[in-house]
Amino acid sequence: MFETLTPQAPDKILQLIGLFNADPRPGKVDLGVGVYKNAEGVTPVMRAVRAAEKLIWDTETTKTYTQMAGEPAFHAAMAELVLGKDYPKDRLAALQTVGGTGAVRMAFEIGRMANPGTTVWVCDPTWPNHLTILDFMKLPRKGYRYFDAATRSVAFDAMIEDLQAVQKGDLVLLHGCCHNPTGANLTLEQWAAVADLLAQKGAVPMIDLAYQGFGDGLEEDAAGTRLIASRLPEVLIASSCSKNFGIYRERTGCLLVLGDTATRAVTQNTLGFLNRQTYSFAPDHGARVVTTVLTDPALRKEWEEELEEVRTGMLSLRGQLADELRRLTNSDRFDFLARHRGMFSRLGATPAQVETMRADSAVYMVGDSRMNIAGLNTNSVPVLARAIVKAGV
Ligand code: LMR
Repeated sequence: MFETLTPQAPDKILQLIGLFNADPRPGKVDLGVGVYKNAEGVTPVMRAVRAAEKLIWDTETTKTYTQMAGEPAFHAAMAELVLGKDYPKDRLAALQTVGGTGAVRMAFEIGRMANPGTTVWVCDPTWPNHLTILDFMKLPRKGYRYFDAATRSVAFDAMIEDLQAVQKGDLVLLHGCCHNPTGANLTLEQWAAVADLLAQKGAVPMIDLAYQGFGDGLEEDAAGTRLIASRLPEVLIASSCSKNFGIYRERTGCLLVLGDTATRAVTQNTLGFLNRQTYSFAPDHGARVVTTVLTDPALRKEWEEELEEVRTGMLSLRGQLADELRRLTNSDRFDFLARHRGMFSRLGATPAQVETMRADSAVYMVGDSRMNIAGLNTNSVPVLARAIVKAGV
């Protein structure tokens, strides 16, 4: 029967890893997959994570199963991180998931179970895996305009115009911060306008929060999500610990579901059911590390400090790149790179220019010209800037 299978379209982000690894040129620059790298090109185990792992190793007495939806301590720690100390406990159901992608998938699943006719509205552009998951699930989706290619900022009027067509019970996917792939983010005023519109339409916001702490700070990056959570009766939030804890391979994420107090129990029950039907218990290690770091004051302080080093390091690379391009082009047309936030910026190069940068300068970025800023260091910034100019971007 396997002869009936046909190859799936390659994932453009993952494909780039293979191409980069096969390139023998020294000094090649990898701005592909969204993984943080320090100045030495290493994705380090964060100090607090290592300390938490040691603590767990020293004190853990069993590896028996935890709970189907994950540990309540993990849910509470994540809810507080995402929603703040005063989050509405009586309205919150939560699920420990296999990474942030697992949380996204489970959000779509519970959305579909609750409203089988739901359409999912997705920003254009978005993380490609959002689209392929929805198509794989055969969930109807519609796009809303998000990015103004000329100014490399949010096309807010177009976004609001498109979202006028949202129907009651539709899911509207929003990036909580550090928009992937563009780096262009909503202001708090714009979040408020989106909240008003979705409330008026009776739509359900679904927030993908994969980079909390990578943009303007832990609290600042959650501000849009918190605003939505405070104004809408029902909200889905898919939170990832891959980036801000640097525990990519541990596959740790959390789905938070806000509803009303009367539906909390059935929602929690449904979330546990979804884990059980998909892979049964979620992996524990990453969630235990995160819970330990977030609840131990010394470890938390250490983690916040290192995360801040990561964040400000990316910001200074952004500034350096914008400066370098201002110098080389004698113009301010790349200043948006310093205004964008998070790991990514969409440069605005054509696919042919992206290919030229790869062929001529060994600079690797995704075909839509998404660059992972964390793939740079102070030495490779000038290399990238020259490649951009040479390719005629
Ligand atoms: C990315 O967008 O590069 C990351 O989220 C990694 C991935 O799985 O695509």
